[in-house]
Amino acid sequence: MANQLDLDHCFDFVMKLTIESAKIIRNAIQGGKCIETKAGEWDLVTQYDKSVEEILISGLIKEFPTHKFIGEETVSKTNCLPNLTDDPTWIIDPIDGTTNFVHSFPHTCISIALAVNRQLEIGIVYNPVIEQMFTARRGCGAYLNGNPIKSSDISDLKQSLVCIEASYARIEEIRDEVMGRIEAFVSIAHGIRTLGSAALTLCYIAMGAADVYHTDNLSPWDVAAGTLIIREAGGTVIDTSGDKFNIMNPKVLAMGNKKLAPELVKLIRSADMKTQRKRINKNQSAIST
Ligand code: IPD
Ligand code: CA
Ligand code: CA
Ligand code: CA
Repeated sequence: MANQLDLDHCFDFVMKLTIESAKIIRNAIQGGKCIETKAGEWDLVTQYDKSVEEILISGLIKEFPTHKFIGEETVSKTNCLPNLTDDPTWIIDPIDGTTNFVHSFPHTCISIALAVNRQLEIGIVYNPVIEQMFTARRGCGAYLNGNPIKSSDISDLKQSLVCIEASYARIEEIRDEVMGRIEAFVSIAHGIRTLGSAALTLCYIAMGAADVYHTDNLSPWDVAAGTLIIREAGGTVIDTSGDKFNIMNPKVLAMGNKKLAPELVKLIRSADMKTQRKRINKNQSAIST
């Protein structure tokens, strides 16, 4: 239980462990890597994803033997996503932005969160390449390298910088929807960015460097730490449908402040409807020719 747990100790311990483990990423980013694929040609994993997760989990188990773990590479191995319970649970992405890491693109990080009673208590996102350490404790604010950060208060989409994950448009069944949503944002916002690390992108919203982030198709380890960091920085994360955000099935609409939420949900809905109409028209004209 949260009140029986020494969260100060958890935080200090995991910070030190993260900094130590991240040296592997910093030392390896420029060199050759053993690259394997998981779900498809685009789903990359290296020996470093596996070794960083092993080091993190074994370090945490030694210190907190009763805690549970949800780590990307462990889940990939067993092909089984555990339920989130009330037990203290560390949610771990050993390298978020593996494709960036493989290509030596310096936008990659370790992301670790601690949930207790299904509530996020600690969030850490660390990019060791450019030494950006984002941290948050529930109720205590969010920080970048120890300095408080605050999300943007822009309430007009026309004045916003929007981050979208574009890569999942590779999935043929949803490609039209993803492209339709991108088109909708492109036609309104100041600009669109697609950065290839969900955890870091959430932190960029938290620090006010971007205003909106949208992507479906993520996993708990991509978003757990960043979600707490955004909330503690004054921002908000909701489900793409406008419903309450579910960390275990994350469809992400994150923003610097709540004011943008209704407009964003409406924009995505109407982009999807437009895509569906186009699909129906295409099918109808295929039938009639
Ligand atoms: C990926 C990144 C990427 C997102 C993918 C994730 P990984 O995580 O967060 O930005 O678009 O959906 O899987 O595989 O690099 O840890
Ligand atoms: Ca991965
Ligand atoms: Ca990830
Ligand atoms: Ca990963």
